[in-house]
Amino acid sequence: MKIFNEIESEVQSYARAFPRVFNRALGEYIYDEEGNQYLDFLAGAGTLNYGHNNANFKEKLLDYISNDGIAHGLDLHTKAKGEFLETFNEKILKPRNMEYMVQFTGPTGTNAVEAALKIARNVTGQQNIVTFTNGFHGVSLGSLAATGNSHHRDAAGVSLSGTHRIPFDGYLGEGIDTTVYLDKVLSDSSSGINSPAGVVVETVQGEGGINAASFEWLRNLQAVCKKHGVLLIVDDIQAGCGRTGTYFSFEDAGIEPDIITLSKSLSGYGLPLAVVLMKPELDQWKPGEHNGTFRGNNLAFVTAKAAIDCYWSDNSFSNEIRRKGQYVSDRTEAIIKKHGEGNFSTRGRGMFQGINCVNGDLAGKITKKAFKNGLIIETSGADDHVVKFLCPLVISDENLKTGLDIVEQAVEEVCDSATSIPEDNEFFDGRYVANG
Ligand SMILES: Cc1ncc(COP(=O)(O)O)c(C=O)c1O
Repeated sequence: MKIFNEIESEVQSYARAFPRVFNRALGEYIYDEEGNQYLDFLAGAGTLNYGHNNANFKEKLLDYISNDGIAHGLDLHTKAKGEFLETFNEKILKPRNMEYMVQFTGPTGTNAVEAALKIARNVTGQQNIVTFTNGFHGVSLGSLAATGNSHHRDAAGVSLSGTHRIPFDGYLGEGIDTTVYLDKVLSDSSSGINSPAGVVVETVQGEGGINAASFEWLRNLQAVCKKHGVLLIVDDIQAGCGRTGTYFSFEDAGIEPDIITLSKSLSGYGLPLAVVLMKPELDQWKPGEHNGTFRGNNLAFVTAKAAIDCYWSDNSFSNEIRRKGQYVSDRTEAIIKKHGEGNFSTRGRGMFQGINCVNGDLAGKITKKAFKNGLIIETSGADDHVVKFLCPLVISDENLKTGLDIVEQAVEEVCDSATSIPEDNEFFDGRYVANG
């Protein structure tokens, strides 16, 4: 463990919450060097929707490597990329009547967002992008300007410009439709808000605290965008690839974004891959204008195709996610009723859910207790006040129950031991010591 303290940058974050050395993972389990087994309800922050080392894709990946398949290909046409595009078009886009061009960006979510913002700005000739309170879109400068969180924004070192933030659904309380405000300011030449190129939105804000927009609000947002000639960009990097129950998180809302970003679970295997989907008329790029050395992660194309073939050839996986999501809703509701003292609330959609503990301290204590009992689960939200359930979608019913049991026990212990809770976990002398 010493080496991490000696030479790995202070910028580490998850490693601080889960200070073990992990060396193996399978399905919904991850193991540390000492052989301890943990249920993984963090799942690569939404990158492992199909679990760790999913056997359905592993063999295909190993075969591809054994046969000296191309690993890195810039943006060259490769067999693996062609097969991924074919499958994505036939099994994801066409069945949903979606006609989009696919752009491979650098392999991180933030690079896909950067590209999406450039497309909107260059096509419309406008600079301003409307973004939402508590939105998270990445930490490179363009995406960071669209991100709300001050912890991340403060690290920019330059002013973050070109965006205008408005309240997300629910931000001003129930019954206030914030798209009415957007419509009003875009209709008023004296509102002081420049005509935007696009609006970038998460249908469920992940890092911002599992804030789920209502379908009606999303439809209203689309209507306002259409009325004012503004492009609607859905950042589906965390909520997409099945997390909410459908492949794209906006399907049940019945909206049709102009631009969509996808990454995280797209490759299915935790391999870096990111794309922008854009309506064909928006594909006005000149060759190489937005390039990047790692746009052709062919290993990721192999597993991304396998993930779609395996899980998205019919509706059965989607039905499974909804069924499990209902279980998570029922359990979290019951937990807050029993232990939340009227303060806690539940939030989210599908398998993208959370418990709002109101207070970051409490939420942190709950996740620490859970870790001690073998569950890796994180917090999110402005004050890290939401316990965030992001387990692999392929998790067995038994393990889903076990994970929720661990959370319930942690909530009970933290809430019921009320006034003074000892600082129960210490990182001590290279060893993680639980002394609570
Ligand atoms: C909605 C959303 N957009 C963009 C990003 C940035 O992705 P990356 O961390 O791969 O740059 C994230 C990461 O959590 C995200 O949740």
